Amino acid sequence: MNGRAYRVEEDPDTPLLWVIRETLRLTGTKFGCLKGICGTCTVLVDGEPLRSCITPISSVLGKEVTTVEGIPEDHPVKSAWKEVGVPQCGYCQSGQIVTAYALIEKNPNPSEEEIVSHMNGNLCRCGTYPRILRAVKRASELRRKR
Ligand code: FES
Ligand code: FES
Repeated sequence: MNGRAYRVEEDPDTPLLWVIRETLRLTGTKFGCLKGICGTCTVLVDGEPLRSCITPISSVLGKEVTTVEGIPEDHPVKSAWKEVGVPQCGYCQSGQIVTAYALIEKNPNPSEEEIVSHMNGNLCRCGTYPRILRAVKRASELRRKR
């Protein structure tokens, strides 16, 4: 998890989300629907975005898990998020940032269609979608300048 190895003793079916929040106390990852629908609980498992609320811990044994805390503060995605001022209430934002990070790391120059398609499953009740789009485009610019 975020570059450190952990040994946990929960039941193998325990959702990864609860281990992240309750056992490891990494509370940046939020819970929303708990049904794999909203994307608020998104983390990366071996670089791929996954809904941690429906992912049993047994399935991530020995894998690299990245939460929002594991993304460096000076990474282009976090810098762009601050520059654009994306959040409103903020609740969905860790899932949005983690999902955007996965895209920018794989594809530093995504088209608008690719951004929309990639971010599509992450819901925001505050409707910050236009700012999310702007921030991902800005993150892409910053990433390419690195
Ligand atoms: S809380 Fe996991 S997808 Fe909604
Ligand atoms: S900023 Fe409030 S739900 Fe997205």
